Amino acid sequence: MAATADHSTTGASAPAYYVSTPIYYVNDRPHLGHAYTTVAGDVLTRWHRQRGEKVWYLTGTDEHGQKIMRTAEANGVSPQEWCDKLVEEAWKPLWEHLEIANDDFIRTTQQRHTDRVQEFVQDLYDKGEIYKGGYSGPYCVGCEEFKLPAELLDGATADEKLCSVHKKPVEWLEEENYFFRLSAYGPKLLEFYAANPDFIQPATARNEVLRFVEQDLKDLSISRSTFNWGVPLPWDEKHVLYVWVDALQNYITAAGYGSDPERFAELWPASVHLVGKDILRFHAVIWPAMLMAAGLPLPKRVVANGWLMVGGEKMSKSNLTGIAPTDLTSHFGVDAYRYYFLRAIPFGTDGSFSWEDFTARYTSELANDFGNLASRVAAMVGKYFDGVLPASASDGEAEQAVKDGLAKAVETADRKIGEELDFAGGLAAIFEFVKQVNGYITEQEPWKVAKDDSEEGRARLATILYTAAESLRATAVLLNPVMPSTAEKLWTSLGAEAAGLGALSAQTVATVADWGRLPAGATVTKGEILFPRLEEKPAA
Ligand code: MSP
Repeated sequence: MAATADHSTTGASAPAYYVSTPIYYVNDRPHLGHAYTTVAGDVLTRWHRQRGEKVWYLTGTDEHGQKIMRTAEANGVSPQEWCDKLVEEAWKPLWEHLEIANDDFIRTTQQRHTDRVQEFVQDLYDKGEIYKGGYSGPYCVGCEEFKLPAELLDGATADEKLCSVHKKPVEWLEEENYFFRLSAYGPKLLEFYAANPDFIQPATARNEVLRFVEQDLKDLSISRSTFNWGVPLPWDEKHVLYVWVDALQNYITAAGYGSDPERFAELWPASVHLVGKDILRFHAVIWPAMLMAAGLPLPKRVVANGWLMVGGEKMSKSNLTGIAPTDLTSHFGVDAYRYYFLRAIPFGTDGSFSWEDFTARYTSELANDFGNLASRVAAMVGKYFDGVLPASASDGEAEQAVKDGLAKAVETADRKIGEELDFAGGLAAIFEFVKQVNGYITEQEPWKVAKDDSEEGRARLATILYTAAESLRATAVLLNPVMPSTAEKLWTSLGAEAAGLGALSAQTVATVADWGRLPAGATVTKGEILFPRLEEKPAA
């Protein structure tokens, strides 16, 4: 990080690669949109783990505020009971089902969070960053946010205004509140963005934030006194903290802020905050300003993903497709699900889901290109070499082209997935390689070479099958972060671990292109079909 702003350099170095998702509101069950961000973060962190880096992946739930309180009331239970139920019955089970390997799960009602939050705001209060004032304005409970005039639409009557995101009436809120001096941070934020051009990504998101901050920032109302479902302000317990100010701090409270300095020094600043583009300002404006006020280093990157859309609108709880993540995983399988959204939608842009598109990609890319390659190669090693992988004996130009193709795929995928968060581009590079290997087999025609019993013929056949199997070894490693169960099946079918290569999880990106890692003599078995033929689409 560049060193123009003092807050950007005050932190200890952070050797761990720390990625966070937004913490999700638990007023309802998770939908495809939430799963999209969480899977992306999982793939990113698994990729970095596979680079051999120390990684920390955080997700969790946002449990305070009016939205949750009202939902609980409507369901006749206390907010805490509501949150406990939803977290245990809906959110955690879905992440487990989708094989999300998060290292921690923070809930904002946990004491490890609320205690630290109180300390944090008390510190800002003591420093004079927070003052008491009055505010009135239109408020959207769906967004949990005061709205600006430009963010409102006309409603059914002359007085009614609608939130442009939720298309629901806003409420007029008039309160005596505490305020954070956000307005003082405009110039410092602009200076920081200029010194750290990669802080906000993609460029469209960065531009939007710059335009917003270049106008005058207003101070931020950070407390509420008309309801009590929140973290009480330590110096005035009639007020609870505004849910967003509480929520943003999860990124530091979970990382050991104020409780475990050593861990905090290792984890903070976060490497990447993944956010939906709807919550970009909170992460790229308010959160950095709060951290500056507290004298803490800023996260290295805030990366905004686009929206999954339904009928031209952001998929939300009120306009769902009617399709839950588990409806898709029971049809396509968990790994294909993890793959599909990242492959089909360039990260950062909006995208729609369709059964037809998912089915087409499943069939052509996963089942035909990749799954068939794996089963054909295993079948041929079985048929021609009794399932014992032969040593390559006569590498030539064709084999060199495959090796070069692998090196290129690894370099591209590592850069695109690991650095640029261009999952679609990284996956395209890996599948380009899979296609190349298919083409190699088609050209080499091992089934014809197999008819030649001479020593030369056998050597040629051995080379072709070794080249194909070794390519699959590398493919298993490259796809492991995206499709961990499938990659594991392939690893087993290649007999890689038993042949001495170690567990799939022990393979690294740095060595994946080293040709010849899969030892000759490995026992190759046909194993399970990686991507079985799809059943009929379930009736809507
Ligand atoms: N609780 C806040 C976040 C606090 S973070 C300190 C919140 N929660 S949310 O549950 O409403 O949404 C969180 C995130 O879910 C979105 O920003 C986005 O990352 C993801 N998505 C929700 N709907 C989505 C789509 N339709 N498409 C893609 N992502 C979506 O805001």
